[in-house]
Amino acid sequence: MKTLKIAIDGPAGAGKSSIAKEVASELGFIYVDTGALYRTVALYASRFDNRESFLRKLEHCDVELKYLGGTQRVFLDGEDVTDEIRTSEISMRSSEISALPEVRAYLSEKQREIARENNVIMDGRDIGTVVLPDADLKVYLTASVEERASRRYLELEGKQDAPTYEQILEDIRQRDYQDTHRKVSPLKQAKDAVLLDTTTMGFHEVCKALEDLIEERLELE
Ligand code: DC
Repeated sequence: MKTLKIAIDGPAGAGKSSIAKEVASELGFIYVDTGALYRTVALYASRFDNRESFLRKLEHCDVELKYLGGTQRVFLDGEDVTDEIRTSEISMRSSEISALPEVRAYLSEKQREIARENNVIMDGRDIGTVVLPDADLKVYLTASVEERASRRYLELEGKQDAPTYEQILEDIRQRDYQDTHRKVSPLKQAKDAVLLDTTTMGFHEVCKALEDLIEERLELE
């Protein structure tokens, strides 16, 4: 049976995951956060002394997505690392290792496998361009860098060791640069993707805009 595939790409902090998660649960689709896979491989890579030994053992990196009560959890060697991979150090490392062609090939195949078996909303950087070029709908979700930094700042405010707004802005700028300038599968809008700039939009407004696009494109009820 043909599965339905919705690809959402865009830069760090554009709100892809919260929007995609909400809309996927409305539709009964599986939400696949591909950034979590890159983050988990970055955690795995941190166990090795150098890049060569990490790449030699890449095939043994047992990374798996599981859906518990509708929520995605990510496992490394059977251990739930969903929360551990959310540090700013792992954010930066994942952006670095995601430039390696071996890592991209390994994870892209895993992502395609999930999409072959399930109706998915998949978010990432290269879903519409490389992983699922035949997706039923492609959306490029973005917002100004200042707005993305400010949203992330509000999310982290009050937490222990919360970074300053300036630190977040700098981190996001650096990741934007790395993600759009790498040689293999850089972040870019697919030719046939719909651009959704959410700089001045609220969460529910963006969810509604995405749901309208899906309804229109897939003719869902
Ligand atoms: O979406 P995120 O911030 O959790 O992703 C972490 C990093 O992983 C991001 O800086 C770039 C990389 N990534 C990628 O290269 N391709 C994807 N499909 C998803 C994430």
